[in-house]
Amino acid sequence: MTTSALRLGIAGLGTVGRGVVKILQAHGPLLTARCGRPLELVAVTAQSKDKDRGIDLSAYDWADSADALATRPDIDVYVELMGGSDGAARSSIMAALDAGKDVVTANKALLALHGQALAERAEDAGRVIRFEAGVAGGIPCVKALTEGLAGNEITRVLGVMNGTCNYILTRMQDAGLSYDEVFQEASDLGYLEADPTLDTGGIDAGHKLALLASIAFGAKVDFDAVRLEGIERITIEDIDRAADMGFRIKLLGVARMSGRGLEQRMTPCLVPESSPLGQLEGATNMVVIDGDACGQIVLRGAGAGEGPTASAVMSDIIDIARGLRLPTFGQPAHMLADLPRAHASVPAPYYLRLELLDKPGALAKVAAKLGDAGISIDRMRQYGHAEASAPVLIVTHKTTRDALDHAIEDFSATGVLAADPVAIRIEMV
Ligand code: HSE
Repeated sequence: MTTSALRLGIAGLGTVGRGVVKILQAHGPLLTARCGRPLELVAVTAQSKDKDRGIDLSAYDWADSADALATRPDIDVYVELMGGSDGAARSSIMAALDAGKDVVTANKALLALHGQALAERAEDAGRVIRFEAGVAGGIPCVKALTEGLAGNEITRVLGVMNGTCNYILTRMQDAGLSYDEVFQEASDLGYLEADPTLDTGGIDAGHKLALLASIAFGAKVDFDAVRLEGIERITIEDIDRAADMGFRIKLLGVARMSGRGLEQRMTPCLVPESSPLGQLEGATNMVVIDGDACGQIVLRGAGAGEGPTASAVMSDIIDIARGLRLPTFGQPAHMLADLPRAHASVPAPYYLRLELLDKPGALAKVAAKLGDAGISIDRMRQYGHAEASAPVLIVTHKTTRDALDHAIEDFSATGVLAADPVAIRIEMV
């Protein structure tokens, strides 16, 4: 077994990079013992050399660019923590692989968009790319799927993979605040990405789901196949009414293989309030994995932040130091399949919020349209009201989104709707 140091170069000294340097500085003997060899940070680079980051960088060389760092002869592992789906992150990772370096990154956007090409390039070069920190921060879900659960046929991966959205939704409910008010709060707390639609539009979480789906189902990563819907249109009324029916609204990622193909979606869904996902508060993440042998595995923890994300980066570095060389997406890149995309979700119960004109037969007309579409009602509640219209909530039995959309289209012909209906899928967990 080799006892020479594993030499690292880190590009990017923001929250994650700083966290990694801190762990390397704080845990030297512990890391050496666990790896059976020392980890040595040789050189770093970032946008500004002079910025005070609250850490002592004097022991490390400063590289003038990411590409220069990535190809230095005196590093073994290039640790890319700059982010960005193209540009310097992508070119420097390719340069590192070509120069014979292994790569550790937290860059979900890059891998979601170019993961297959990069995995093939790594394989051709005999190098590895690891990305535990790219999905759900400190939660070791990439390792769980790639290693701990590798003996299972995975039937479903789901979860809350964007802490900012979960913060916004749970805070709206707890404080009775509007989306806009809580969005501003999240912004003041520094939770939002520089482009907030990455969070609120489900894009960031969609990147993460696409990566997990690739490992879980042996598929080429296919971010374009993820059906995305953000949380911007969720109202406090939806949250409160759903709670009355025993549900919580989550921005939920679901990846599942069925006879219809591989289904991937990151959309607002209702989950039972009593389920682990229903109980998930604040900026926390949860990844739930269903395997045929293991049953359901629930992983919960911080999805962002210096310590949790740096912890995940370190786990990849330690694997490489130990000589554990795993394929990027859990199997050789050339064996990953082009799986057919499911164009429709598997049937599920739906929650419908209607605003009906308060006149005789209004409810019956709507119920008839559901019946015509073959949709059966499971539960229904009408609220007391002072206005000319009445709020009605319906929980359906399992149906398809297509059938429901047909029924909703037909509602308009009844002339009894006072507002556009809201329909949200209920994911049973
Ligand atoms: N912005 C993300 C979140 C963290 O709120 O979970 C980085 O992916």
